[in-house]
Amino acid sequence: MRALVTGVAGFVGSTLAKQLLSEGHEVVGIDVLTDYYEVSIKRGNLASIPETGFTFVQADLNTVDLGALLVDVDWIFHQAGQPGVRMSWGKDFAIYVRQNIEATQRLLEAAKDAPRLKRMVYASSSSIYGNAERYPTSEDDRPQPVSPYGVTKLAAEHLCSLYASNFGVPTVSLRYFTVYGPGQRTDMAFTRFVRAAVLDELISIYGTGEQIRDFTYVEDVVAANIAAASTDGVTPGTVLNVAGGSNVSVLDTLRIISDLNGKPLRVEHTESVKGDVFRTGGDTAKIARVLGWQPTVTIEEGLARHLDWAKKTFGPQA
Ligand code: UGA
Repeated sequence: MRALVTGVAGFVGSTLAKQLLSEGHEVVGIDVLTDYYEVSIKRGNLASIPETGFTFVQADLNTVDLGALLVDVDWIFHQAGQPGVRMSWGKDFAIYVRQNIEATQRLLEAAKDAPRLKRMVYASSSSIYGNAERYPTSEDDRPQPVSPYGVTKLAAEHLCSLYASNFGVPTVSLRYFTVYGPGQRTDMAFTRFVRAAVLDELISIYGTGEQIRDFTYVEDVVAANIAAASTDGVTPGTVLNVAGGSNVSVLDTLRIISDLNGKPLRVEHTESVKGDVFRTGGDTAKIARVLGWQPTVTIEEGLARHLDWAKKTFGPQA
């Protein structure tokens, strides 16, 4: 298959592109290389993608000629967006609207006319649930985001469903629950924690650290994407949780990292941050039924791999 991966220089996008290529697919990757986090890291992610079968286009989804890009594409994996739950207040909200809602609407308009398109997978987020009505949260529970970021991810998800019901665009939205693993973004908790562990730096815990996340290992997220694209008969507009089954608190994860690293961590507690959900936890019965997907990497195993990567990337021998 020929796949378009948006946000290909990012954490999930680059990991997905490598897996698609290793399975013999062709990949066209697009990324505008925003400076939300270090552009050098994104360039490093791009450099790690094998050249055979891969084409990179540096462009903005809000201006690029999408019709030309999509003419011979079978699968779209829409990973691009402005991430960051805690940064989405204030004047930066305009960036979230543009990168998460407007770019997705523009892509859907083009997808409607893409002659070969078989599936468009949208990277949605557990943050659309906010503090949910119940745990584990299922796809039919009421979305009530508590961050502007979550509002934009939910809006774009609704657009995917609308383009599916009105124009038959074969969308599937995957609600990722806090993705981690080697290459995770540098603004996210685990990369901060394992980097600080390796360099013996101070870790800031936002609030009590009792907040719970259903952390999901990146390879499992990539597998969910490929299953979402390649499984026959998925109803257009389908929405699925992609949750790792970990259900641990931030404090639990720090204990695991400390044990793996063989020494205590240096921590401080700072103010909790507006927009931060107290708990996430996803019911995966639907994705198991529809795609046959289930998570395979435990939090202990995933954090061990994340820490090993941090040693190589940030440690003295790096
Ligand atoms: C993450 C991503 O950043 C979002 O893009 C994504 O949409 C979201 O997951 C999701 O699942 O929907 P978040 O869960 O906040 O958001 O991810 P982390 O940065 O890994 O934070 C996990 C927890 O650690 C949060 O409660 C946060 O407050 C805490 N944290 C984070 C700290 O205590 N210290 C830090 O330095 C960073």
